[in-house]
Amino acid sequence: MQWSTSVFVVLFAPYASALLRFPCSQLVTQRFDPLVTPGHVSPHVHQIIGGNAFNLTMDANNDLPDLSTCTTCRFKEDFSNYWTAVMYFKHPNGSFLRVPQVANGGTGAPNGGMTVYYIQPPSGEKVVAFKKGFRMIVGDPMLRTKNVDKNSVAWHTSTFRCWEQLNMSGPGSQYEPGAGLDTIELPKKKCPGGIRSNIYFPSCWDGVNLDTPSHHDHVAYPTGGLDGAGSIFYAPGQCPSTHPVRLPLIFTETIWDTGRFDNMWPADGGQPFVYSMGDPTGAGQHADYVFGWEGDSLQRAMDTCNDRGDYPSSCKALTIQTDQEMNSCYQTPRINEVTEGQYIDALPGCNPIQKGPNPATMVSNCQAISTIENVPAPTQPPLVTTPNLPSATPLPTTNVPAVPPPPTSASPIAPLQTHSGQCGGQGWSGASQCQSPYSCKAQNQWYSQCT
Ligand SMILES: *[C@@H]1O[C@H](CO)[C@@H](O)[C@H](O)[C@H]1NC(C)=O
Ligand SMILES: *[C@@H]1O[C@H](CO)[C@@H](O)[C@H](O)[C@H]1NC(C)=O
Ligand SMILES: *[C@@H]1O[C@H](CO)[C@@H](O)[C@H](O)[C@H]1NC(C)=O
Repeated sequence: MQWSTSVFVVLFAPYASALLRFPCSQLVTQRFDPLVTPGHVSPHVHQIIGGNAFNLTMDANNDLPDLSTCTTCRFKEDFSNYWTAVMYFKHPNGSFLRVPQVANGGTGAPNGGMTVYYIQPPSGEKVVAFKKGFRMIVGDPMLRTKNVDKNSVAWHTSTFRCWEQLNMSGPGSQYEPGAGLDTIELPKKKCPGGIRSNIYFPSCWDGVNLDTPSHHDHVAYPTGGLDGAGSIFYAPGQCPSTHPVRLPLIFTETIWDTGRFDNMWPADGGQPFVYSMGDPTGAGQHADYVFGWEGDSLQRAMDTCNDRGDYPSSCKALTIQTDQEMNSCYQTPRINEVTEGQYIDALPGCNPIQKGPNPATMVSNCQAISTIENVPAPTQPPLVTTPNLPSATPLPTTNVPAVPPPPTSASPIAPLQTHSGQCGGQGWSGASQCQSPYSCKAQNQWYSQCT
């Protein structure tokens, strides 16, 4: 999709469903995980974005908007926290360097961090905002392989996009996140434009539990499979009866600036990237979410905002802040160890590289540092961009189509829309034919469905 087409779509073609897309810069990178190891130093390093009430322990009764004084997200109302594992480059000499994160297309100039999406299903079905105290996790850091069918939703929850050209373009770039050429494991070839992590959270809730011991049993993915392009992004399904409440679909993208290391690959040609939990496969990619929107702001936004592109300011229900304001919100790491900015001898914590295919095992008698300290606030934010790297390749942040186009009938993945999926309506450019035995019936001016 061309940029001009995207603008046209945003201005002139109303959609039935709401979409927020916005950047959050890095809050801190350290071994904290208040969901999995509350009160303790986490086994591996995470990058955290969002409100600055993030802490070693986060009581579900805490009111994050109350406790926070700033957020790293574009919308001032979002004091939620989101975190994922961090990617490292393994030098041929055995040392590790954290891979810098860079801004996504059309998101401005955040200091690293991620791009966050809140998506309403394409049917326009009303979504119910998360409740205070809600949290969840997607993925499992111990996994080193995933035995799931390529056509399943499970396969598509956590994937990687290899940008083969510098401006986030090249083969595969026209597909929705998780579709087309995206892989379930880390790309095995060089990606000069970087690697993008695509992570979809479940969007159906049991309506009762704000959390569960597993941190994922209270949520589920909609039934009904993938959308017409082979992705979760516009998945048409309904919530299962066990998890009947439809939540906004949270989707995150992280751009790892791996292209900087292309001239330093090992002689055997194997890919040199590894996640902070010692995972060279990518199968252990995971993400955590702690809800923290102010008042009913998320519900209001999902009820009324339909940016579908790069204009968070068009959502009048919310307040935006500048890149500078986002980037000036940060925390100082509270564990006395080096995690980024220079080569280190080993991954922080006790994380020897474990290739699998069996799940990773924890190192017993780990001697890694396990205490935290209160350090004085720094006078300026730590730069996510690592200095002294070979040939940095800046990624242009303009002229990049931001939101993937709706599924098109030209898609080689699945040209036919599935049962209950959208197949027409004003502004719809996706699949217009239904899989047998269903046919496309107009529901209203904006929406036709395969029934
Ligand atoms: C984190 O928790 C500790 C202990 O409860 C508290 O002293 C500190 O102020 C908290 N930090 C933030 C940023 O909320
Ligand atoms: C590996 O190379 C990097 C970059 O030159 C250097 O900083 C690091 O100290 C080296 N590590 C070892 C173990 O030689
Ligand atoms: C992106 O860069 C490639 C070359 O790397 C070029 O062929 C292509 O036209 C560019 N696309 C856009 C949208 O600028």
